[in-house]
Amino acid sequence: MVVIPGDGIGKEVTAEAVAVLEALGGLELHHLPWSADHYLATGETIPADGYDTLRSFDAILIGALGDPRVPDNRHARDILLGTRFELDLYVNYRPVKLLDERLCPLKGRGPKDVNFAVFRENTEGLYVSIGGRFKAGTEDEVAIQEELNTFKGVNRIIRHAFAFAQEHGLTKVCMADKSNAMQQGHALWQRVFREVAAEYPGINATHYYIDALAMYMVLDPGQFEVIVTNNLFGDIITDLGATFQGGLGMAASGNIHPGKTSMFEPVHGSAPKFAGKNIANPIGAISSAALMLDTLGWTKEAAAIDAAVMKAVKENQVTSDIGGTLGTREAGEVIAREIR
Ligand code: NAD
Ligand code: IPM
Ligand code: MN
Repeated sequence: MVVIPGDGIGKEVTAEAVAVLEALGGLELHHLPWSADHYLATGETIPADGYDTLRSFDAILIGALGDPRVPDNRHARDILLGTRFELDLYVNYRPVKLLDERLCPLKGRGPKDVNFAVFRENTEGLYVSIGGRFKAGTEDEVAIQEELNTFKGVNRIIRHAFAFAQEHGLTKVCMADKSNAMQQGHALWQRVFREVAAEYPGINATHYYIDALAMYMVLDPGQFEVIVTNNLFGDIITDLGATFQGGLGMAASGNIHPGKTSMFEPVHGSAPKFAGKNIANPIGAISSAALMLDTLGWTKEAAAIDAAVMKAVKENQVTSDIGGTLGTREAGEVIAREIR
């Protein structure tokens, strides 16, 4: 496995995820320095053979990328988005799972109401950077940003969502788009969703427009088991979903190409305000490491990490964002010690 701590709190939370992995023993972890620091020192975002380097590992654990000293975030684009695209990590799997009622900001909601999976398309949509700016910097500036939706891309993520539901004994898949306004690209989502749903008669396939979905997530999260949506909408609703879990510090994710080298990371970013202060919650990163092991088939080890996280939450041995008094390092150590 290869670890890229990245920037800001990414470094701190990744150190804790690594400590937990080391507590398990038997794993070979390599580290790569790719980050804003590395870019500012060397002018290199990712080496020419960087994606091949990544492909040579079983899996990638990454912290977060983004640093105010690199205003255009070009290193994050190359390292994070570049890896999603170049390694074709088309499934962005973001479980929204509440561990304890105390952490949920929704009135009267508990773990049985907040337990669903979001599958975010991860290789196309509005993230492809196709477009351009004409007369940039003038009053006549025109900026075009195209949204790419391909049959291949839409089909494979929707199929993945249905297959996941079936494998996990779930019966509900909800697709969210904006086909009322985006009548070209999202008509493709509508067509493919209908076609794939027809192959799964045991699964209740429903659709919401993304604006309504955001409302129903807040009003009645218990109705969701699996949500599938495009790249940008998935980005937005998973920050919302993270708040149901206790905040961004709690949410884990996997950028996955089934059967190939995949990348795991907390949903949150580098939170520059918190960087270097030992206050960031390491659970999102630690749970991402568990997701990595689970995806690689190390299910017992993954379950042990999840159980240790659950115990830390139950005992309130956690950071201040979720009501504890521990620092990043101490909260990570509680979980690592439990594993040991
Ligand atoms: P952010 O997720 O970094 O932080 C937003 C807020 O969420 C923080 O101010 C904090 O209140 C809370 N938060 C986030 N992580 C937390 C944690 N572990 N523990 C406790 N609280 C936490 O989002 P942002 O401020 O919009 O972005 C900062 C930088 O991170 C930007 O450069 C952005 O592009 C980048 N970013 C990177 C990733 C990634 O690498 N995957 C994801 C999101 C944002
Ligand atoms: C995420 C992040 C990234 C995204 C940013 C940093 C480009 O917000 O992983 O959720 O939008 O995908
Ligand atoms: Mn995001």
